[in-house]
Amino acid sequence: MDDFAYLSPDAAYFDAACQSLRPAPVIQALNDYYQNFNSCGERVKYAWGKQTDEKVAATRAKVLQYLKLSPREYFTSFTLNTTYGLNLILSQIAPNQFVKIITSNLEHNSPFLATIAAAKRLGIPREVIDREPDGSINSSHDFTKSIVVFGAVSNIDGRELKNLKEIVKKIHQQGGIIILDAAQALAHNAELLAKTEADAICASAHKMYAPSLGIIVAHKDLLPKLEVNFLGGGMVDDVEKSTFQLSAENPAHIYTRFEAGLQAWGEIIALGAAIDWRMQQNTKNLMAYSKSNFEFLRGQNRIKLLNREFSPTLSFCVEGLDSHLLGAALSHENIMVRTGYFCAHYYLSHQNNYPPLVRVSLGLHNRESDIAKFQDAMRKVLEA
Ligand SMILES: Cc1ncc(COP(=O)(O)O)c(C=O)c1O
Repeated sequence: MDDFAYLSPDAAYFDAACQSLRPAPVIQALNDYYQNFNSCGERVKYAWGKQTDEKVAATRAKVLQYLKLSPREYFTSFTLNTTYGLNLILSQIAPNQFVKIITSNLEHNSPFLATIAAAKRLGIPREVIDREPDGSINSSHDFTKSIVVFGAVSNIDGRELKNLKEIVKKIHQQGGIIILDAAQALAHNAELLAKTEADAICASAHKMYAPSLGIIVAHKDLLPKLEVNFLGGGMVDDVEKSTFQLSAENPAHIYTRFEAGLQAWGEIIALGAAIDWRMQQNTKNLMAYSKSNFEFLRGQNRIKLLNREFSPTLSFCVEGLDSHLLGAALSHENIMVRTGYFCAHYYLSHQNNYPPLVRVSLGLHNRESDIAKFQDAMRKVLEA
């Protein structure tokens, strides 16, 4: 069965790095919740609520299984998106434990800005270190007692943090912690994340074939390093006039630590369906299409392609042609690409002086005809 049968045959969607298209089983799981057992999770005793509880608990477990992490060490909480998760954790790190905060030049604005705010709040210096051209980090860097925030995969060109596991080890040996931005890694680079011993991993379900939702996977040992400063219903077992008892003190409810207020129960349940679906998919076609676009773009004289390697996410500009105009021209043919700086202003605009770019990001919904349509349209543009 074609899980994207709802997609018009001539709509070529190439913005999966922003939001994946959702396959039928995910939409069905969401509808099932809304139509058959719409209920509040983790609070109610009636039958619908029990169904919600079972499915929400299953999704928490599936996230850990997908990342090959043990529930003895890690737990899964839900938020709005990657940005919210990163800010939530960074804004709770207690002062006087770390001497600096480190991020890299290649980051999305989401960790880039959140680390600016955290450095200011904690009164510690912030370092922005340059990635190696292959996306790795120089492992001889000094990570002493540092809060480190790196992206696992770039949203510009899919570049991976190649030596992730080595870096995580170094940071821990030097008394630091690492929070990973896995927004771009979850859908197509889960192997890179598997068994990482990061202190926290933040991601967006909407880039992983699921509804809009944020995911935090945190190591249990991170919690003592955080202060409780964001509270609400669902997080407490008892409240007196000026004190409260956190539900997260009970190991069985530790995930409530980051979940103030009602959660997006239907979306969480549908994320479970997205993980099941994703684990059954073969990425052979996606990789072949990505390679085809990479080779096509690399072979054009007027095109400057940022990618050094093929990836589902490719960014480029065309000499003498405004990227936004090109994006608009492609849109006339129902080809949907992104144009601009993709929330990576520092790296693209300031450090490298690139003009606004075009980003073509593929997902498992893409068909061979989409690739042909894109390459034909680009040939016409380049010949004009
Ligand atoms: C690498 C990276 N980090 C963080 C984000 C922020 O994700 P969200 O807007 O879902 O919070 C994005 C979004 O595109 C991203 O690509």
